[in-house]
Amino acid sequence: MNWLFAVLVTTVAVCGANICPCERAELCEQIRQQRDFEVFLFDVGSKTWEFYDWSMVTTVATFGKYDAELLCFAHSKGARVVLKGDVPLSYIVDQENRTAWITEKVNLAKSQFMDGINIDIEQAVDQGSPEFHALTDLVRETTEAFHREIPGSQVSFDVAWSPNCIDKRCYDYVAIAESCDLLFVMSYDEQSQITGDCIAMANAPVAQTLNGYDQYLSLKIDPKKLVMGVPWYGYDYPCLNLSQEGICSIDKVPFRGAPCSDAAGKQKTYKWIMTQVNSSLSGRLWDSEQKAPYFNYKDQSGQIHQVWYDDPQSICLKTNYVKSNGLRGVGMWNANILDYSGETVAKQQTEMMWNALFGC
Ligand SMILES: *[C@@H]1O[C@H](CO)[C@@H](O)[C@H](O)[C@H]1NC(C)=O
Ligand SMILES: *[C@@H]1O[C@H](CO)[C@@H](O)[C@H](O)[C@H]1NC(C)=O
Ligand SMILES: *[C@@H]1O[C@H](CO)[C@@H](O)[C@H](O)[C@H]1NC(C)=O
Repeated sequence: MNWLFAVLVTTVAVCGANICPCERAELCEQIRQQRDFEVFLFDVGSKTWEFYDWSMVTTVATFGKYDAELLCFAHSKGARVVLKGDVPLSYIVDQENRTAWITEKVNLAKSQFMDGINIDIEQAVDQGSPEFHALTDLVRETTEAFHREIPGSQVSFDVAWSPNCIDKRCYDYVAIAESCDLLFVMSYDEQSQITGDCIAMANAPVAQTLNGYDQYLSLKIDPKKLVMGVPWYGYDYPCLNLSQEGICSIDKVPFRGAPCSDAAGKQKTYKWIMTQVNSSLSGRLWDSEQKAPYFNYKDQSGQIHQVWYDDPQSICLKTNYVKSNGLRGVGMWNANILDYSGETVAKQQTEMMWNALFGC
């Protein structure tokens, strides 16, 4: 056969059937097994996944670029790898557009040997609006399509820390919970809408966080549909003024109807926080009301900052609730942001963060 023909044949073969990227073909088989307890993590890219505690992981939502090596490795550990799904809701009010979106995602998941999808739509929605109904339909139809086309696959949906129209996300939480396999509750960014004094506060205060779960459960949502998501990051706020009592007033940055917001701060990784706390002005402080650690530091220009974050002590107070209330599992945003360098102190801190997912 001539050269051109050979090229054509190869192209057809590559496009027609999806080539398994794994060393062993069985690693391309989708994970079907259901496990009682979910450890659901988000991976945002890079190779830190090599250092995760794979004895715990059940699902990896890949928010970075597709990484075939990660897929093969996760499958070798019996862990699911799921797509990210996001779309402007105004587009999918139209049934044809909605079906096209779902079909595209199912085909993408299949072609990459993936095990489901995590739908991450954080848009503001008015109760009863066309988008409100379209979103519920999207979740139900996506779940039906994935379950039909990829048996045993998992469809999850990300929700705010409370069902009470947080950030104007007034969704039909009950119907959405019934329509998918699980809700990942994002118990963080809880200062996105500050209505009282504009001051730095904890990213995810313990009582407020647990109250959010009480609210979901009071809607009669099955606890086995709820995965508790904890933050592995914190917020660094430049203080306009740091009072004698240690209260840091922050810039007024409005968000979705509230006069100020955590948008006045910058998100910082646990890795950064752990190095910064040791050279801070205050060292690690503990707020006994919000049950969260924080510290103050001065930057090179002399500006004072207050940093609020979560560590094993604050996280385990929240994850204790998972067992006592029979939730489906735990997870975090995001798995990449610990210090995986393997250096002695870092290694210990990283291990303690993974272990805190199981309470104290
Ligand atoms: C369908 O989706 C496309 C984007 O994929 C968008 O531009 C278009 O406006 C949508 N059509 C309708 C009727 O919503
Ligand atoms: C700033 O903090 C100082 C010291 O606690 C306090 O006396 C002062 O009233 C504060 N200023 C503002 C604008 O809040
Ligand atoms: C920070 O300080 C703590 C307590 O003194 C110490 O155990 C730890 O090794 C220090 N961390 C780093 C990264 O130096």
